[in-house]
Amino acid sequence: MNTYVTGTTIRNLREDRRMTQAELAETLGVSSKTVSKWETAKGLPDITLLKPLAQALGISVIELMNGEHITNRNVSGNLRRCKFYVCPICGNIIHSTGSAVVSCCGVTLPPLEAEEADDDHAVTIEQVEDEQFITVRHPMTKEHFISFVAYVTCDRVQLVKLYPEGNAQTRLQMRGLGTLYYYCNRHGLYKKGR
Ligand SMILES: [Fe+2]
Repeated sequence: MNTYVTGTTIRNLREDRRMTQAELAETLGVSSKTVSKWETAKGLPDITLLKPLAQALGISVIELMNGEHITNRNVSGNLRRCKFYVCPICGNIIHSTGSAVVSCCGVTLPPLEAEEADDDHAVTIEQVEDEQFITVRHPMTKEHFISFVAYVTCDRVQLVKLYPEGNAQTRLQMRGLGTLYYYCNRHGLYKKGR
């Protein structure tokens, strides 16, 4: 995350909107030379200009600061490209179906990258009637535990919250091809495809 808006971000967003430097400058009540300076890293827009700048570029101030333009393309909503975010402070679990700038407890959360299960985070899936019984072989102490299990297919997310001192087990209906995700508070996100 950038700590402040960058010239590259301003230029890219302006060009995306097919605006000239002069047009952007006029909207903001500055000169086109000023905009040119921002874009070439020879100056930075004053903080009072961030809101009007974001408005002129059609994004939120947070997106502007992060250098990410998030458009609601509603890309056929393939949940298999979904992302999980977990707050390291309060343990909040956030799920998104695409790119997002997510923050919790004042921390900007990176999308978690899932690893293939290792020996210390092995999972077994047993068929029980019409459901799957999922067990992660893992401690469930207050300090080190599995905090959720989720099964994600192209159109559905099932997420089960687990708690320390409980069992690292749950039942899910794993219909269709999907990916099983589970999160260890110390070691991160794991996945197992099927
Ligand atoms: Fe772990």
